[in-house]
Amino acid sequence: MKIKSLIISAVAAAALPVAAGAAGVEVRLGAKGAAEIPPTLYGLFFEDINYAADGGLYAEKVINRSFEFPQSLMGWNVSGNVEVRSDGPFDRAPHYVRLSPSGHRHKHTALENEGFFGVSAEKGKEYRLSLWGRAEGSDSARIRVEIADPASMGETHVLAKADIRVAPGDWRKYEVTLKPSHTVEKGRLRIFLVHPDRTVDLEHISLMPADTWKGRRNGLRADLAQKLADLHPGVFRFPGGCIVEGTDLDSRYRWKNTVGPVENRPVNENRWHYTFAHRFYPDYYQSGGLGFYEFFELSEDLGAAPLPVLSVGLSCQYQNNGEECHVPVDSLQPYIDDALDLIEFANGDTTTVWGGLRAEMGHPAPFGLKYIGIGNEQWGPEYVERLKPFISAIRSRYPDIRIVGSSGPNPDGERFDMLWEAMTDLGADLVDEHFYRPEDWFAKSPSRYDSYSRKAPKVFAGEYACHGKGKKYNHFNAALLEAAFLTGVERNADIVEMATYAPLFAHVEGWQWRPDLIWFDNLRSMPTSSYHVQKLYADNKGARVAPVTLTGADSTLFVSAVTDANGDIIVKAVNLSDAPVPLDFTFNPGKNRKLKAQASPAAVTVTTLHAGAMDENTLECPDKVKPAVSEAAYAGETLTLPAKTFAVYRFTH
Ligand code: AHR
Repeated sequence: MKIKSLIISAVAAAALPVAAGAAGVEVRLGAKGAAEIPPTLYGLFFEDINYAADGGLYAEKVINRSFEFPQSLMGWNVSGNVEVRSDGPFDRAPHYVRLSPSGHRHKHTALENEGFFGVSAEKGKEYRLSLWGRAEGSDSARIRVEIADPASMGETHVLAKADIRVAPGDWRKYEVTLKPSHTVEKGRLRIFLVHPDRTVDLEHISLMPADTWKGRRNGLRADLAQKLADLHPGVFRFPGGCIVEGTDLDSRYRWKNTVGPVENRPVNENRWHYTFAHRFYPDYYQSGGLGFYEFFELSEDLGAAPLPVLSVGLSCQYQNNGEECHVPVDSLQPYIDDALDLIEFANGDTTTVWGGLRAEMGHPAPFGLKYIGIGNEQWGPEYVERLKPFISAIRSRYPDIRIVGSSGPNPDGERFDMLWEAMTDLGADLVDEHFYRPEDWFAKSPSRYDSYSRKAPKVFAGEYACHGKGKKYNHFNAALLEAAFLTGVERNADIVEMATYAPLFAHVEGWQWRPDLIWFDNLRSMPTSSYHVQKLYADNKGARVAPVTLTGADSTLFVSAVTDANGDIIVKAVNLSDAPVPLDFTFNPGKNRKLKAQASPAAVTVTTLHAGAMDENTLECPDKVKPAVSEAAYAGETLTLPAKTFAVYRFTH
């Protein structure tokens, strides 16, 4: 970057009373100009990759529930007389199935849904089966719905069942509650036509747990959403990275297709179903059930600032070369309108078109959108020239919205420098940086932001993860390096406004990209060591940066500190070396007498994250790497930071 300056405060080493062999950690309290910690600093990046939405966070258990996949019966096994028709009640999702007599009283006409790697159901819980139906002719027709366990013999084969009498005439919605007799991970949902001489039409067949997170009907899987809530995210970015762009413009994410009644949302191809040929998932589509309304609602529930990212009119530049693949600059208006309409959807009053739709969907109050990203991981002059008209249109209608631009896929180099300069010139408020990098890069990068300009746009470290070698999920050493890196983010909270690890979720059977923060199967989920790092930072975010001076420390010790609104002093320290490091803390109130009491804490809570370098959590052993907490009175003792450990010291009074 051409615009850099170095501002690091220093205190004379000689002033610090350091025990022999110990490192001195002097924390300056009430330092003039010390930055406030932005509420958005630690956040979440959500993308529907690795079956993160359908088959993951979105609690729907039926795949291709509306028969809208290009192969209408994908995910469904059929028997007897099943016909796909396309004049259904929902104009943007018009397909449905007609179940007619099989022609023989001993043959069933039936449907069976495979779910996402199976249809899972748990004993003791309730599931809402809903569908739209109508019987042909003048009589009602009976159907039977079942959750079945194909692997189970005998009586446990059918876990739950119910009959529904479908009336003739208009389409109506039906709902029954199913209570499984035992738990199944890879079950099936089956629907039989019971009357052998009647015909019935069925549409939008859905199976949702009743105990979704916060009990919402079009809801989220409770264990996964809770893991997000436990991270207390300050910002929630959606709907992702590359899926914003699509493989081509046709498959780009279109937020307007994801709002309104859930039955009437068209599916979109999920580019991750084929992006990596060695992880090919031909049934990976986006139902839109977890759409923009639900993302805003989730952000609100999490207490996080929503950060939607929209297409800038460029299809994914990795897969598309040449201007002909992108929207010409003079034809961008519909894309710009998408951005303006989205702001209206989130914030507009209920008399506006899009604010009115939000109200109709159940949220008359504005969502309080403050940020918008334009373009995902774009680069080159083709990005800059397209971003420009977006910025002027948004600024002129919504001057308070903060706009996030991109610095491309690499965290340095000519392209990166050019984009930072261009984002500065265009007046972007934040610049999104991406770095999926190996261990040695992270070990060298905790000082990355120390030398950034204080006058340029703010930094959004929007996608990052340490890609450690050799493990399936994510090993502890990678997480330790992320913790070291985050000391630099915290220290530079005056210019880093947000940081989000990526990707967030992965299904153990359906992943395309790893490492990821949270892994799950159909019944279980587990936090990785990186998750614990994120949580320790978020739980100990504090209110204001407290500058730190280290003395007698070698280059494998990384430290940052903050003070909390209640006066607590929180120090994060990462020891990358193979030897323990004794730490001598001093708290320097400067000349401010009012801070003298704060400078003499009476107790310390130490939370450590430590494990073998290659240790990782798994679904079978989800707590192999987890934090340990201890509390003690404190009277200035030396505290020893073990080798290869991340520790959070919270000093209280
Ligand atoms: O996080 C996975 C992908 O990495 C994102 O979709 C994209 O923005 C980046 O290349």
